[in-house]
Amino acid sequence: MPDSRILDIKDLNVSFNVSGNYYKAVSGVNLEVNTNEILAIVGESGCGKSTLATTIMGLHDNSVKIGGSVIFENKNLLSLKEDEFNKIRGAKIGMIFQDPLSALNPLKKIKEAVT
Ligand SMILES: Nc1ncnc2c1ncn2[C@@H]1O[C@H](COP(=O)(O)OP(=O)(O)OP(=O)(O)O)[C@@H](O)[C@H]1O
Ligand SMILES: [Mg+2]
Repeated sequence: MPDSRILDIKDLNVSFNVSGNYYKAVSGVNLEVNTNEILAIVGESGCGKSTLATTIMGLHDNSVKIGGSVIFENKNLLSLKEDEFNKIRGAKIGMIFQDPLSALNPLKKIKEAVT
């Protein structure tokens, strides 16, 4: 793995439990992000973009079945304990949620919000 690799996702699967049955929302995602790289994920509504992001951020409870690996700085985020994840979430990985009016302060420049 080259030194510049910061995020390496392999065969990520995410399934939601709805009334006792599991439904796959993310299926077999593989992606890599290197330093100084910007990756945009596009796709139709409901294809799993937000679920991918919330999985990287470790925002799902135990009812959500997650398979594969999310390697960030040589650690698999999927196997981190909550207190370990709390040191990364917000400090090293941030998320701006989908509703920009509640996620962003319109009085601040976007650069201030993301840096
Ligand atoms: N908490 C949940 N419980 C059950 N199903 C869910 C849950 N969250 C998302 N889903 C389902 O997972 C699939 C992916 O949803 P997701 O919100 O990740 O899509 P998206 O690509 O972000 O869509 P959009 O472009 O509309 O934001 C959809 O079928 C959605 O209904
Ligand atoms: Mg979304």
